[in-house]
Amino acid sequence: MRISPFYLIAALGLSTLGEAKNACSGSCTNPALERCLTAKRVPFKVSCSPDWELYSTTLNRRVPITPAAIVLPNNSKHVSDAVICAANKGFKVQAKSGGHSYGSFGFGGTDGHVMIDLRNLNKTVLSRKTNVAVVGGGTHLGPMATAVHAQGKRAISHGICGGVGIGGHATHGGWGFTSRAWGLTIDHILELQVVLANGTETRVSPNSNPDLFWALRGAADSIGIVTSFSLKTHPAPKEVVNFVYEFEAVLESVDKAVNAFTRLQDFVSNATLVDRRLSLALQTFVKPNPETGSLDKSFVVGGTFMGSLGEYKRSIEPEMLRGLPAPTKSEVQSHDWLESLARLSPDGTLTGGPLYSAYFANSVTVDDPGLDRAALERYFGYILEGPPLPPVALQSNMELWGGADGQINFVPTTGAAFPHRNVFWTAHNLVQAPPDVNATGFPPEAVTYLSGLRNAILDGLEVNSAAYPNLVDTTLTRQEAHQLYYGEEVLRRLRRIKAAYDPRNVFENPQSIVA
Ligand SMILES: Cc1cc2nc3c(=O)[nH]c(=O)nc-3n(C[C@H](O)[C@H](O)[C@H](O)COP(=O)(O)OP(=O)(O)OC[C@H]3O[C@@H](n4cnc5c(N)ncnc54)[C@H](O)[C@@H]3O)c2cc1C
Ligand SMILES: *[C@@H]1O[C@H](CO)[C@@H](O)[C@H](O)[C@H]1NC(C)=O
Ligand SMILES: *[C@@H]1O[C@H](CO)[C@@H](O)[C@H](O)[C@H]1NC(C)=O
Ligand SMILES: *[C@@H]1O[C@H](CO)[C@@H](O)[C@H](O)[C@H]1NC(C)=O
Ligand SMILES: *[C@@H]1O[C@H](CO)[C@@H](O)[C@H](O)[C@H]1NC(C)=O
Ligand SMILES: *[C@@H]1O[C@H](CO)[C@@H](O)[C@H](O)[C@H]1NC(C)=O
Repeated sequence: MRISPFYLIAALGLSTLGEAKNACSGSCTNPALERCLTAKRVPFKVSCSPDWELYSTTLNRRVPITPAAIVLPNNSKHVSDAVICAANKGFKVQAKSGGHSYGSFGFGGTDGHVMIDLRNLNKTVLSRKTNVAVVGGGTHLGPMATAVHAQGKRAISHGICGGVGIGGHATHGGWGFTSRAWGLTIDHILELQVVLANGTETRVSPNSNPDLFWALRGAADSIGIVTSFSLKTHPAPKEVVNFVYEFEAVLESVDKAVNAFTRLQDFVSNATLVDRRLSLALQTFVKPNPETGSLDKSFVVGGTFMGSLGEYKRSIEPEMLRGLPAPTKSEVQSHDWLESLARLSPDGTLTGGPLYSAYFANSVTVDDPGLDRAALERYFGYILEGPPLPPVALQSNMELWGGADGQINFVPTTGAAFPHRNVFWTAHNLVQAPPDVNATGFPPEAVTYLSGLRNAILDGLEVNSAAYPNLVDTTLTRQEAHQLYYGEEVLRRLRRIKAAYDPRNVFENPQSIVA
């Protein structure tokens, strides 16, 4: 049996989309907008287009959205024309890259936006001279990784799901198993091509429009549409060890769980043996078992080591497992770079096909040096002895950002509108309903449950904490989101830049910056 971290979304199965319906031609809902787009020859879909459902269905079925129109640009001129049409006719705009926002923000986050679906801006071109990759704003992570490898055996640091889009991911962080070595995806951005709220296309880099370069890296959803990214690349590792250990005994009691977590936290802090090549997440899974009527619980240590299997077995594994109960299952294998990536992705491939289901997520960034015993007792106490789990599957991932030799935290906080640079763990919490449950069927108490888990981590936390903007928590008000994603100082500068570049608030979603 294959076990893999981050497997939940695929493990619960996919639902398919309904058949196409409602054929029509010409304008159908917003004649003025549709006339403007047609006059500028911008490709678009509206609610009576035969394939509307294919383009308008959100991946997260808990947050369905009906846009006013979906624009399908083939080039940045189409993006620019669409922004002008939308703004002139009084519509709000959001770009969609991979559509993986937990709040469906790529679709607008609320009904009635002009959604700019960047799926056709999906070219990746690697310069053999500079090793810089130029990546279209709608490219998905899996195809991007495949392309930079095919064109020059290069690699970029990014998240684990092949279908996530570079557009949302890179501009709001971007954590993956190579981030401890190479930083977040956002740290790879060298230059951007962007369309502003007035339709102007411009190049943005540390030397050209530095204010925009700062703001787009952290808050692009509020500032502009990135049509192309220039990204730094690294030589792809020849060999990567993927490891997964599953422990049932760890979750037998709060005390056992706290001991195991504390032991692993000490291990990843041990600079004698841990360096940036090792990366991991500690995952707690709880899900209803329909056969037994009880809950299946497992604690998983999963990650990668950018080195040889021999070195991993000799020097990493014994010390990592020391003092833990024997794993119930484990899988440790070495792979080439692309195979390692594919095995981490929820569908086991890098093609990144869409996965539809209903879910809710939140996050807590926990600063260095991590969670003390009291905090861990609250965390595991909530999961093991707290309120009953509603009929959803819980996945709580403690993703390692810090630890010995971790490189994420060496990036200065002032360089971008992304201030999360002293983080040890990011708790990425997720509840997911069974397949075919839609927004109507999603149990509201599952949202309350997960908010309770977040509060249990936060209660009395001894270190600073915030929230990771790539893991949109839809329960946060705009103000709460701003405090947690940006903090006072970054927010003040973002508001000034918003006022200068988007005074009419064209780029909007429920948590975007308001001047
Ligand atoms: C299954 C799954 C797995 C995930 N795994 C990870 C992970 O391993 N690591 C991690 O860090 N995160 C992970 N995430 C979170 C993910 O990084 C964010 O949801 C990310 O913002 C998604 O980007 P997107 O382009 O796919 O989403 P979209 O919904 O298309 O966009 C998200 C936001 O960014 C804006 N945006 C998109 N493209 C552009 C653009 N070109 N220019 C300007 N604004 C743009 C949108 O308007 C929207 O506001 C995961 C999410 C899911 C659902
Ligand atoms: C846009 O690209 C698509 C797919 O390549 C093509 O079918 C279509 O004709 C193009 N449309 C315009 C207006 O360029
Ligand atoms: C880009 O998207 C088009 C369809 O929109 C698809 O046919 C093509 O294979 C994609 N290219 C890459 C490199 O993924
Ligand atoms: C760190 O690792 C070394 C080498 O394995 C080991 O001897 C030492 O006990 C570890 N330190 C801690 C605090 O675990
Ligand atoms: C949502 O699911 C319920 C129950 O299965 C079903 O009755 C309803 O039609 C669905 N709604 C939508 C919008 O698909
Ligand atoms: C659009 O805004 C940019 C940035 O403020 C400005 O430089 C440019 O002149 C504006 N373009 C138009 C057509 O107003």
